[in-house]
Amino acid sequence: MLSPATLALLAGAPFALAAVKADAAGKLPTLGWNSWNAFSCNVDAEKVMTAANEVVNLGLKDAGYEYINIDDCWSIKDGRDETTHQIRPDLTKFPDGISGTADKIHALGLKIGIYSSAGTKTCAGYPASIGFEDVDAATFAAWGIDYLKYDNCYVPSNWTDPYEACVSEGTDPTLANGTCLVTNTTAPPDYDWSTSNTAERYRIMGDALKAQSRTILYSLCEWGHASVQHWGSSVAPTWRMSGDITAEWPRIMIHVNMNSFLMNYNDHWSHSDADMLEVGNGALTEEENRSHFALWAAMKSPLVIGTALDKLSEVNLAILKNKYLLAFNQDDVHGKPAAPYKWGVNPDWTFNATNPAEYWSGASSNGVLVLALNSLATTAKREIKWSEVPQLERGASYQVEDIWTGKKLGCVKDGISKNVVSHDTIGFLVGNKCGKPPGRW
Ligand code: GAL
Repeated sequence: MLSPATLALLAGAPFALAAVKADAAGKLPTLGWNSWNAFSCNVDAEKVMTAANEVVNLGLKDAGYEYINIDDCWSIKDGRDETTHQIRPDLTKFPDGISGTADKIHALGLKIGIYSSAGTKTCAGYPASIGFEDVDAATFAAWGIDYLKYDNCYVPSNWTDPYEACVSEGTDPTLANGTCLVTNTTAPPDYDWSTSNTAERYRIMGDALKAQSRTILYSLCEWGHASVQHWGSSVAPTWRMSGDITAEWPRIMIHVNMNSFLMNYNDHWSHSDADMLEVGNGALTEEENRSHFALWAAMKSPLVIGTALDKLSEVNLAILKNKYLLAFNQDDVHGKPAAPYKWGVNPDWTFNATNPAEYWSGASSNGVLVLALNSLATTAKREIKWSEVPQLERGASYQVEDIWTGKKLGCVKDGISKNVVSHDTIGFLVGNKCGKPPGRW
């Protein structure tokens, strides 16, 4: 029982109260599945339930994957219910409504996510939430929704920002060094983007979600605009840092390159989302799928599978279930991601979307994760030297495990040098120093 003095203190301390989290949703990067990369607008209850059942059957639930997220195109396109102003589920796609699908997903011990936009329409042109945040948040809560991805399409003119943030996707040659293209609408250097219309649009929905009596994990999808890394985590635990991923190697490298400059913003409750996974899609090779997943896990991006799980190969399933990478991504004690310690092909801190940072390391509860990517088009040697890894000591020997084979390599002195196939990533968990008692980490 709190004393009247404590209650009075709490009443006058909204910030202290706001910092108290009702549950752990959002502390760690989201693990789940989303319909968009697999099916785009062709989403329906059958596909969503197939994914949910496969998450259970394939052991992905046991590995930690939890959220089954419906993306764009789930509602009736021509508008809201005239009386209740609610968005109406498309019953031809979801015969039991979204709440019926939610019940089935919950019965599997999983959680369900939905999608809307901070504009008048979703990106595919369906009703969206600006001006209806309270109605929509209450509706989602009533349906049993656990997660909301909130997109950035159809922003009304009175809600746009007067300035542009520095956006460098790495596809524009004028941005090759990561410098901004300065125009007469570029924000002044001291502009506080947390006061922007974009931040406000996202904050309004965040407040509406917080007012509900169930936890709805909030996921910002404003594509890395409006300098979201500076204010995103004050609004939601996870924020997209870029435009859309595709199942193509060059695009995956664009995301790695951009996100490699954002690792300082990542921690528990604050996740730079490199976009949903493409493992299993398109013509990505086994090596490319491995690198994609390893880098996303190491960057502590949310890991949201985006493929048809009933068609997933054994090889790709094993990648998605890699226990070393999942443990690193989901570390309850260490919130900080891995970070590049050396660029490799390019000098350190080069903004280059073809050959981004290749050498990454990060501390975890189980040891130091070290990755080395070969971004070149041919096989090349990659040399991990303990002396260059910030968490390790020059001249020391460590117990090492290969994260792909699970093989214990025993005591390894100085480092590891290997020929790496084009677009592949080697990875090691570097544990106790040899000769030291266990528990160093
Ligand atoms: C994009 C978003 C994608 C997907 C799509 C749906 O804006 O970045 O992830 O949600 O809209 O139309």
